[in-house]
Amino acid sequence: MTKPGQLIGGLLVPATLLLASCGAQVRVANDPVTLYKQGASADAVQARPAAANATSSQPVASLVSSTAATSARSAAASQAPTSHDTGSMAGTATNASPSPAASAAPAKQSVYDPVLQPATAGTVQHVTLTAKEGVQEIAPGVKYAVWTFNGTAPGPVIHVKQGDTVEFTLKNEGTMQHSIDFHAAETPWNLNYKSINPGETLSFSFKADHPGAFMYHCGTAPAMMHIADGMYGAIIVDPATPLPAAKEYMLVQSEFYTKPSATKGILDGDYTKMQNGRPDYVVFNGVANHYTGGNALVADPGRRIRLWVVNAGPNDFSAFHVVGAILDKVYPDGNPANVLSGMQTYTVPPGGGAMVELTIPNEGWYPVVSHSFADASKGAMAMIKVGNPPAAAGGH
Ligand code: CU
Ligand code: CU
Repeated sequence: MTKPGQLIGGLLVPATLLLASCGAQVRVANDPVTLYKQGASADAVQARPAAANATSSQPVASLVSSTAATSARSAAASQAPTSHDTGSMAGTATNASPSPAASAAPAKQSVYDPVLQPATAGTVQHVTLTAKEGVQEIAPGVKYAVWTFNGTAPGPVIHVKQGDTVEFTLKNEGTMQHSIDFHAAETPWNLNYKSINPGETLSFSFKADHPGAFMYHCGTAPAMMHIADGMYGAIIVDPATPLPAAKEYMLVQSEFYTKPSATKGILDGDYTKMQNGRPDYVVFNGVANHYTGGNALVADPGRRIRLWVVNAGPNDFSAFHVVGAILDKVYPDGNPANVLSGMQTYTVPPGGGAMVELTIPNEGWYPVVSHSFADASKGAMAMIKVGNPPAAAGGH
């Protein structure tokens, strides 16, 4: 079953994230994350003043439609390789999926629920994803014209069990072609990952024979653009042998490459920056520095934490690291047959995944970062709050 990534509207702007109203800097203040990354963040933040300026002062009313921005990119997409060009992305052409939760209208700072919900009972799982365009706040005050599955970037977490049959349907409610590509599936690319037109649907089924943390994404050419604009998500396949109890979270790392769009107040994807691998934001679950302050992941001292990680990229490798902790076990691609012990940092490539387990003995704040620090300074940072520690120096 589809497990929509919940958008919890009530938990709005993290108290620790402030957008300086006059200018171009996104400031992260007053929490351990900030203290940890202080040195690196300021410059990096200053490097994207255009982005912040372009969005921070626009009235909400101007954010309602992303059509213009989308059209501009559609034009760019049309000059790129044709759909299904295998050269466009390592042989994977895919189609996108649809879906619901995110507002296509005035973007608000919402929190994508990082808690991994249990897989649904039964052996046949009906999953529908809807490809649609919208607007998402990817950092405080920064609105971006996303292309999505079900309205959010990432799309919903799909959680099934090894051996389940996934009866899948893609609906295209967007304005351009989209497709789907499930890394958890073994299925003909030419048949099931083909692009479909707006208004069309595509259905197929596959058996989730391999356990792990897998990416799904739109593979319509140029796939890099469809992914960078938000058309990705995670499908978790539980192993046949149940895993031990743990506090489980899902983190999808990805990048945003921005430029002003034709729609005032909304940023668009910058294809040149994508090609050059120069992101403006690198994020977990779609928003820079998402899980900090009051939105931190929580855990108990001495209790197992399990982090499911997927790196959607499209370009940057994740140097996955938890500050102040050791990754007790790392399962590359999330398959229990692959196991590493006592790891400090684990590389998750674009299009790859991992499941990591750790137990943190002492109460405190523990940053989760990509240890590729340019990316951490652009937002690839979360916090685990273990126990009930006091606010970090400076408080918040
Ligand atoms: Cu892929
Ligand atoms: Cu797409």
